[in-house]
Amino acid sequence: MDRLGSSLPQTVSPISLLFLPLLLFIITTTKITTAFNLSTITFEQGYSPLFSDFNIKRSPDDKNVRLLLNRFSGSGFISSSYYHYGFFSAKIKLPSDNTAGIVVAFYTSNVDIFEKNHDELDIEFLGNIKGKPWRFQTNMYGNGSLSHGREERYRLWFDPSKEFHRYSILWTPNNIVFYVDDVPIREVARSQAMGGDYPSKPMSLYATIWDASTWATNGGKDKVDYKFEPFASEFGDLVLEGCAVDPIEQVPSTNCTDRTAKLVAAEYAAITPEQRKAMRWFREKYMYYSHCYDSLRYAVPLPECVVIPSEQELFKDSGRLKAAQKIKFGGSHHKHRRSGSSRRKSRAKVASGSNQQAAV
Ligand SMILES: *[C@@H]1O[C@H](CO)[C@@H](O)[C@H](O)[C@H]1NC(C)=O
Ligand SMILES: *[C@@H]1O[C@H](CO)[C@@H](O)[C@H](O)[C@H]1NC(C)=O
Repeated sequence: MDRLGSSLPQTVSPISLLFLPLLLFIITTTKITTAFNLSTITFEQGYSPLFSDFNIKRSPDDKNVRLLLNRFSGSGFISSSYYHYGFFSAKIKLPSDNTAGIVVAFYTSNVDIFEKNHDELDIEFLGNIKGKPWRFQTNMYGNGSLSHGREERYRLWFDPSKEFHRYSILWTPNNIVFYVDDVPIREVARSQAMGGDYPSKPMSLYATIWDASTWATNGGKDKVDYKFEPFASEFGDLVLEGCAVDPIEQVPSTNCTDRTAKLVAAEYAAITPEQRKAMRWFREKYMYYSHCYDSLRYAVPLPECVVIPSEQELFKDSGRLKAAQKIKFGGSHHKHRRSGSSRRKSRAKVASGSNQQAAV
C-alpha cells in the first residue's frame, strides 16, 4: 500500500491519501474474509457477574450486556468456567466522546488461583479525550512472567465507539492469535525457548470497565471526567469455545484431547495467506509500539519475536514509531479478580490484581 500511495501524483489531496489505504483494505478484506462461523451464547450460558452487579445491565434476551462505569464503580463479568485453551470472543462497542482515563479490558487470566505464577492474555482499550481516538494494547504473561511485559500498542481503522466490532483471543497449545473482526493482528507461535512464558494453565475470560486515570491517557494527565457518567461498554454475540475444566483438580477429570483438537482445527486457528496479508497491513499501518522492536528494553528480542524488516524499519530503538505520533506512554496494570478459587462465587469482592508497572 505504501508503494502504491507514494507513486500517486503529488496533486492528490492529503485527505484522500489518508483514506486510500482504508479503501483498498475494505476492497481486499470484503473479498477475502467472510465472517467466522461462530455459535453465540447468552450471558447466563457462559458468564457470571464479577463485581458491581448494579452496573451490569443485561438485555431482555440475555444476549447483550452493558458494563457501566460511574462515580461509584466500574464493573465486570467473568466466564463461569476455566478453559484449558479456548477461543474467547465478543462484539464490543466502546463508550464515545469523553473517555479519557477509561480502560475497557477483555482478557483471560488465572491470577485468582495462581497468584505467583499466573497466565494472562490481554486486549485493553485505552480511552481518550474528546476528538481523539481510542487506542488499544495486547499483552501476555505466562507462569508469572511479570518482568517480561510483551506489550504491543495500536490504533484502529474505524471508530470503535460508533459500531460493534468483534474482538477475539485464540489460545491453543501451538499459538495465540488476537483478532479484530477477521483480521489477525498479532500471532504468537509457541516455541521451546519461551518455556513457561507461554500460557499453559486453565484461564477464565474477563471483561471489565474501570477507572485507570493514573495512566491510561497521556500518561495519567487526562483523567475520567464524571460529568459524563455513566460510561457504557456493550458486549454482544458472545462466544466461548474450548475445554471447560476445574483447574485445581490434582487428577483432571476432563479429557480435553477432543475439544483441543476441535479448537486447533477451527477456521480461526489457521491464518490464510490473505489474512496474513491483512495482518501485515494492519501492523504496518496501525501498530505504534512493539516490545519486539524496543531494543532499549530488550537488548535481545524475546524468543517469540519475529522481526519483519519492513515493519522494523518503521520503529525506533525505543519500540515507538519513527513518524512520531504524540502519544504518551505509561501504565500500571491493575485488574479485578474474583476472590477465592470457587468459580461459583460470582459475587466476588474486588481486589486489585497484579498491579505492577508495565514498562510502556
Ligand atoms: C512455573 O512456575 C512454577 C513456580 O514458580 C515452577 O515450579 C514451574 O516449574 C514453572 N513451570 C514452567 C513450565 O516453567
Ligand atoms: C483422551 O481421549 C483421547 C481421544 O478421545 C484418547 O485417545 C486418550 O487416551 C484419552 N486420554 C486420557 C488420559 O484418558
